[in-house]
Amino acid sequence: MAMSAATTQSFLLNNKTTRHNYQTLKSATHIAAFPSTHVHPTTTLTSTYKSMSISCSAAASTTTTPLQTPPTTSSDRVFNFAAGPATLPENVLQKAQADLVNWRGSGMSVMEMSHRGKEFLSIIQKAESDLRTLLNISDEYAVLFLQGGATTQFAAIPLNICSPDDAVDYIVTGSWGDKAYKEAAKYSKPNVIWSGKSEKYTKIPNFDSLVQNPDAKYLHICANETIHGVEFKDYPTPLNEKTILVADMSSNFCSKPVDVSKFGIIYAGAQKNVGPSGVTIVIIRKDLIGNAQESTPVMLDYKIHAENNSLYNTPPCYGIYMCGLVFEDLLDQGGLVEVEKKNQKKAQILYDAIDSSNGFYRCPVDKSVRSLMNVPFTLAKPELEAEFVKTAAGEKMVQLKGHRSVGGMRASIYNAMPLAGVEKLVAFMKEFQAKHG
Ligand SMILES: Cc1ncc(COP(=O)(O)O)c(C=O)c1O
Repeated sequence: MAMSAATTQSFLLNNKTTRHNYQTLKSATHIAAFPSTHVHPTTTLTSTYKSMSISCSAAASTTTTPLQTPPTTSSDRVFNFAAGPATLPENVLQKAQADLVNWRGSGMSVMEMSHRGKEFLSIIQKAESDLRTLLNISDEYAVLFLQGGATTQFAAIPLNICSPDDAVDYIVTGSWGDKAYKEAAKYSKPNVIWSGKSEKYTKIPNFDSLVQNPDAKYLHICANETIHGVEFKDYPTPLNEKTILVADMSSNFCSKPVDVSKFGIIYAGAQKNVGPSGVTIVIIRKDLIGNAQESTPVMLDYKIHAENNSLYNTPPCYGIYMCGLVFEDLLDQGGLVEVEKKNQKKAQILYDAIDSSNGFYRCPVDKSVRSLMNVPFTLAKPELEAEFVKTAAGEKMVQLKGHRSVGGMRASIYNAMPLAGVEKLVAFMKEFQAKHG
């Protein structure tokens, strides 16, 4: 049975027979988090582990996982093509590793810091300031670091921007846009003004042909559909000046420059391009804040978070710290203009390999709107797909299986995927074709 940490804790603390084991588990988990040089004698650990009898899943996995020194060199790492959580820049992970136990002489880990202490305040402020630099975000916009994933924003946006009877427009170019639309129907009156469903989500509409509602409070798009690999290359302009453009940029956030001033709200889960899961970034024009529906939960009210600089309650501190390291890294690379060039190059060699395979590989997406981030492809002989994924994994290229709803393969090549990873994949694809073509 899955149990949240809080539930597990209350269960154990309320149960006399397991309380002792919980204390043991706590200390064992603590010890296991440190490199072997800091670990107390292994024999103690082993016997501690054996004595535990807690059966909830979190505890069970702690008891059965053997202690290992984590990989520390590049050669130990795989090329991870997962759609999210996704690969992070290795140098960022190394910085985090160096800071893990003692953040810059503070004597504690970022995980242990008060979110109201000066150390963490410096971390979140620097993260925000670096993100503002990266995306050239003006003072007219608030930047919020929230929780709940992009999925929570599907509800928060209508709750903050609309009354229950307000009309809003959705352009649905894939599964995520569709989910956003369905959630909005609980708190507003959304209308799908274009859907790519009948063409299996392989296209972006021609903006001139859209019939927008002049009274819509906002026009919603998903800037990059992670599952279908369809990406807006330009953005529609709302018909009415008062209608704002809202974009889910979860899977192409910070992958290229964006003119933020075109949008009322941009939101993104961090776990693809800028950090670990658990952080959701919302960039919102300040004049849109403060009109939430009365029933809006406090945690979904942008006003509360903006007034408290994302510190109304305990924020996802460690995730925000990691995002900050990624932002620093993107700035060190020369900013998003340079990052986009690298992303274009990686995508180009992968799409070229697919298109020049004489139909052995196929990408269903309209060429003009193919994503630079998520590259879905199929094999002319679908019976070979499982072997493709398995053999690639054997060569340290993992997570290439397509989303369960569409099948085939998908290579997610976010900012942190090195060019070498894509080159290795392309070489593998050619070899695989030579063997099976
Ligand atoms: C484009 C897009 N939007 C929304 C989501 C949902 O994000 P979360 O899992 O952070 O709620 C995802 C997740 O993969 C996504 O790719």
